[in-house]
Amino acid sequence: MRTFMILALFWPALVSSCDLVPVGPPSCLDLTSTSHISTDTQFGQYIEGSGTNRKGEMFAVNYGNDSTLFALGQFHPQQRLFYADPVPNTHFNGIRFLNDNTAYTVDVANHRVLQLTVNEYPDGPTVVGSSVFCADPTMLQPNDLTLSKLGTVFTSGMRWLQDTNDTHGDIWSCLQNGEVKRLEVMGRTNGIDLSPDDTKLYVSESYTRGGTPYVQKIWLYDANVTTGTISGKRLFVDFEVLDGTQNVDIDGMKTDVAGNLWVTRHGGREVVAFDSTGAVIARVRLTFPNPTNLEFGGPSGRTIYVVGKCDGANTGCTDTLEVVTPGRSWSNLQPSGSSTLSKGVAYDRLSRDILWGMVFGKTLLNNVNN
Ligand SMILES: *[C@@H]1O[C@H](CO)[C@@H](O)[C@H](O)[C@H]1NC(C)=O
Ligand SMILES: *[C@@H]1O[C@H](CO)[C@@H](O)[C@H](O)[C@H]1NC(C)=O
Ligand SMILES: *[C@@H]1O[C@H](CO)[C@@H](O)[C@H](O)[C@H]1NC(C)=O
Repeated sequence: MRTFMILALFWPALVSSCDLVPVGPPSCLDLTSTSHISTDTQFGQYIEGSGTNRKGEMFAVNYGNDSTLFALGQFHPQQRLFYADPVPNTHFNGIRFLNDNTAYTVDVANHRVLQLTVNEYPDGPTVVGSSVFCADPTMLQPNDLTLSKLGTVFTSGMRWLQDTNDTHGDIWSCLQNGEVKRLEVMGRTNGIDLSPDDTKLYVSESYTRGGTPYVQKIWLYDANVTTGTISGKRLFVDFEVLDGTQNVDIDGMKTDVAGNLWVTRHGGREVVAFDSTGAVIARVRLTFPNPTNLEFGGPSGRTIYVVGKCDGANTGCTDTLEVVTPGRSWSNLQPSGSSTLSKGVAYDRLSRDILWGMVFGKTLLNNVNN
């Protein structure tokens, strides 16, 4: 009875945007995010690259205003400065934590990946040192980064011009020994993440003509995180074929521990989630139209924080969505052997979790019941 009422309540939403996808319900869920930071924001409109630490505290770039691209901030549970780089033209665009004391951030303007040394202070984590982890003047940016469990970095990057050609995007890797290499040159690359077992790399590629995007693809590679190399390139998703949204740029992407890929659509006011076969499993409507990235965090790694320019204001907003499966980055930061699917986690949106369990079947439902 309870389940029936919940379904009835959600049904009108279920048959709207997921209908764009040429697969029948119930294989796709329409979800709605909740505004987390909006009018009280301390972030500028270039907020990007959300990252989590072990505790699920959340960080992003562009703390301050439009002129402070050199500043990283914490946005959850409190808004505060995390790190301001002394190089004035530094333009941070993404951040990832390797452990409690080490994080990496990418600098678009100076074509480098910085390693940050982090200390815990009573009022929150603070950067106490920074050094260049890897750099190459021929990197197009980097735009975003992902990190393997043992700290191999992969970066995306682009040259944004009115007309994109096959040389306006790249993929690079940096090993812990400092070795940096270009892996591919292609159309504009942006979203980038590894599968939870570190064996696959997802990279987005976009093309623009006359200033308007017209190609939006996600490629899947076999990754070797020991050598920092990729191979076996194949198409994972082509939004033109999927739903005709090839004019909406793909931005940041993150995987969860079940191997699902969550993708922000800049200009599309949404996040789209795919399972590891490339089937759409959810579409999330946001409170702002231009999401730039997302990450899973919070105490159980099951809150998705989406960042982007606020709707109608030159400031940075964040939205949240509660889900059942923790994020890959958050999970990698937990002490080894600890369960990422612990008992007794409070669910403040039980109805949504029941739906997730119903739609995605036994595995996720078991996770809820564990
Ligand atoms: C932006 O923030 C910086 C650092 O707090 C400040 O010096 C600067 O005046 C601010 N700029 C604007 C346009 O508000
Ligand atoms: C691609 O664009 C670059 C400028 O970024 C230009 O130098 C190059 O000639 C272009 N290549 C092709 C094949 O059009
Ligand atoms: C990565 O490459 C090294 C060197 O070629 C190889 O020994 C290793 O088996 C590879 N790992 C994977 C997961 O393919």
